[in-house]
Amino acid sequence: MKFDQEYFDAGLYRVGTRCEKWDGMRADHGADALPLWVADMDFASPPAVQEAILRRAGHPTFGYTAVEEDDWQSLIGFWQRRHGLSVAPEALTMLPCVVTGLKLAILALTQPDDGVIIQSPVYGPFRFSVEATGRRLCDAPLKRREDGSYDMDLAAIEKHLQQGAKLMLLCSPHNPVSRAWTRQELTALMELLHRYGAFLASDEIHADFVFAPGEFVPILSVTQEKVLSFCAASKTFNLAGLQQAACICPDAAVREAFQREKNRAGVTCGNIFALEATRAAYEHGDAWLDGLMDYLAGNRDHLAALVKAHLPRAVMTPMTATYLAWIDLTAYGFSEEELKKRADAAGVVFTMGRFFGDAGDGFVRVNIGCPRRYITEGVLRLKKALEV
Ligand SMILES: Cc1ncc(COP(=O)(O)O)c(C=O)c1O
Repeated sequence: MKFDQEYFDAGLYRVGTRCEKWDGMRADHGADALPLWVADMDFASPPAVQEAILRRAGHPTFGYTAVEEDDWQSLIGFWQRRHGLSVAPEALTMLPCVVTGLKLAILALTQPDDGVIIQSPVYGPFRFSVEATGRRLCDAPLKRREDGSYDMDLAAIEKHLQQGAKLMLLCSPHNPVSRAWTRQELTALMELLHRYGAFLASDEIHADFVFAPGEFVPILSVTQEKVLSFCAASKTFNLAGLQQAACICPDAAVREAFQREKNRAGVTCGNIFALEATRAAYEHGDAWLDGLMDYLAGNRDHLAALVKAHLPRAVMTPMTATYLAWIDLTAYGFSEEELKKRADAAGVVFTMGRFFGDAGDGFVRVNIGCPRRYITEGVLRLKKALEV
């Protein structure tokens, strides 16, 4: 099978499949609204995934499930092949999802009221996880350049460390600012955290979405001390409904603390279909993923051209990673509530900027993991929404 433009252009009809992106918004936004919000893609997962699930579903009983050596080896092989990272099986802990891992890391490595650093604008559950665990939220907002791209603010991070922050949650690549961090940036960050004895939990769920010629730099290729990395096949291969992720932590003391917390919280995983699908994706998904990345690069360029042509006052952050575009609409002068009302009326749904923190006010996040024609339609609807 060829995973070319024609394949991804075809997309697939998802209504009526318990799909949060399409079915989940219909009550609020109506049946004709175009969903460019929650981060999953309107493409079929690699054929090997469906085949693996169907094969196992063909056996008519679903008792307790063994996690097998091949489950680990498929992840290890994938990370070695795609990112050049060697992972030892004992460094791995299975999880139902990445956000659960972030919460467990907070509980395992910090005490109530300890500071936990995030970099807004950032995926909302970073903030929610710090709040839900009763820790002190230490925001070190990203610095925005003139062209709309973002950098880390090491001085702001250091200030929090001086005031006793114990852990930082890193989004790498960063959602929503579409940014892959460089080796140089990650090295500087880790030197700073190590100087203060702080831990890092790196959410690497978007690792596979770095656009050429860029490269994803795994945090564990920078240092393995006081670091946990969280990964999943769920974003990469559109498997989020199956609930399967992993923590990679070669630092034995940190890993043991994390695993103790996982046991204490009673977090279990090992859903049979999640295991089958994840293994199939890691072992047989490369050609599909390569085709997807070519297609997404085309979508990114298409969106940038449309924004330039139709939304002259908008600033789209340059995308080096992820299938999530970050667009600044502040020049149009609407509050988030007004923007949302107008987008709803025009029949298009984005993730609104404040989900990512106050720094997101006046921004929208646009999901480009869809057939290219949806992007054209979405921008035209947004243009209409912004017309006074
Ligand atoms: C940065 C980031 N982390 C985690 C998640 C959610 O992952 P999970 O469903 O495994 O908790 C998302 C989903 O959009 C995300 O963008």
